[in-house]
Amino acid sequence: MTHPNLTIVDHPLVQHKLTLMRHRETSTAGFRRLLREISLLLAYEVTRDLPLMTSEIETPMEPMQAPLLEGKKLALISILRAGNGLLDGVLELIPAARVGFVGLYRNEETLQPVQYYCKLPAALDERITIAVDPMLATGNSSVAAIDLLKEAGAKDIRFLCLLAAPEGVARMAEAHPDVPVITAALDRGLNEHGYILPGLGDAGDRMFGTK
Ligand code: URA
Repeated sequence: MTHPNLTIVDHPLVQHKLTLMRHRETSTAGFRRLLREISLLLAYEVTRDLPLMTSEIETPMEPMQAPLLEGKKLALISILRAGNGLLDGVLELIPAARVGFVGLYRNEETLQPVQYYCKLPAALDERITIAVDPMLATGNSSVAAIDLLKEAGAKDIRFLCLLAAPEGVARMAEAHPDVPVITAALDRGLNEHGYILPGLGDAGDRMFGTK
């Protein structure tokens, strides 16, 4: 099953930066810089349909009715720890957004998510909620994170990632068909350890230099 709501951001700048990130030789500093740049571009796509209102303003020339964001509050939810790499760039573009964190680690034997932290903004039911995690691999932790957000009342949820595997996309579509997935690329599949192929390796290790 493919996701009815999958968007692949095929902008040349996104694709170029993603290729540089995939290189095994790219340094931690380079990876982090590219992730920041690419997250700004992905943030542009994930916010494409935010509601606008018009406001009367005065330009130096004359008054006009000009578009402004309607002010529907946004919540960004970082799925720890790799989500923080995407969060920084998105937050730069939407500095007024509230921020939450969901801590899940993957049991390397079962590949199932185990929750160790959850701190969410209030009134999620009134917000547009953007969950960020660079890698949609098996989909297990992403689906568990979205489960938590829905339990907390979130209704309008989007999932932003850098790379997705068909398995994760299908899992998300099955569990949360109402949650659009925005990604820079849909890769071939997963290896036996649940890593994306060709992928870019462990996103957390690469951005934090922990390997
Ligand atoms: N998490 C990662 O960091 N990389 C993968 O390929 C899969 C999950």
